[in-house]
Amino acid sequence: MLIFDSGIGGISILENIKKNLPNINYIYLLDNEGFPYGEKKESFIIERSIKIINTIKTIYPIKLVVVACNTASTISLSILKKTFNIPIIGVLPSLDKAIKITKNNKIGFIATKATIQSIYIKKIIYKHIHRKNIKIIATNKLAKIAEKKIRKLSISNLELKKIFNSWITLSVQPDTIYLGCTHFLFLKNEIQNIFYKPINFLDTHESVTEIVKQYFIKNKTKQNIKENIFLYSQYNKELNNLLWVLKKYKFNRIEKINLD
Ligand code: DGL
Repeated sequence: MLIFDSGIGGISILENIKKNLPNINYIYLLDNEGFPYGEKKESFIIERSIKIINTIKTIYPIKLVVVACNTASTISLSILKKTFNIPIIGVLPSLDKAIKITKNNKIGFIATKATIQSIYIKKIIYKHIHRKNIKIIATNKLAKIAEKKIRKLSISNLELKKIFNSWITLSVQPDTIYLGCTHFLFLKNEIQNIFYKPINFLDTHESVTEIVKQYFIKNKTKQNIKENIFLYSQYNKELNNLLWVLKKYKFNRIEKINLD
């Protein structure tokens, strides 16, 4: 199984897959050279996702791909599915559950700018356009804060408050927030702390794990990659900071992959 993201966001997805399928082997590809996807054009994200799968496919016998990034999934998943003949699972947001569970009728949806501008999300927003209760934040800053947090670097509460300013200043704050970027899952506590009342956080990690699980059950897929591999696309200071954090994930190999 290949699982990829522009950064550490996909690790939130990987953690849950590992918890439920402890014997699974995987290749995690951190496309840090492409980070942040949220600031990139659609054409870049589509070409990059195709490049990643093609490159890995020629080196490793992968049978399944998890696009553990909302930006890459909302923009390129349908194209990837048409391009490759291996199953590709993505993380695609939906507001249906949020609409069902909100008690105060105020829902927040937050994602990267590229995700919010994607046709996939525009369609969801259009579907619910008659509802005045869905508040949207498009930000490329929060994923960078999550990258800092996972490296145990200090993060600014003031910066967080600025990002969420349009929600925290509402007379009725959202009680349900959909995290439309896999990076944001690492910041639930920090986000909760800037709101008055408990928030219901929603995201896709459980449904993705379920689809992966069903795939392995249905296909009785034998693992043909016998180790867990971590690949990164660029060596830099930030990556160096991350390497010691990665120790707890016990990757058998950590290597650079060329995506040029
Ligand atoms: N983790 C990614 C997502 O789910 C994107 C972060 C970025 O590269 O901007 O959208």
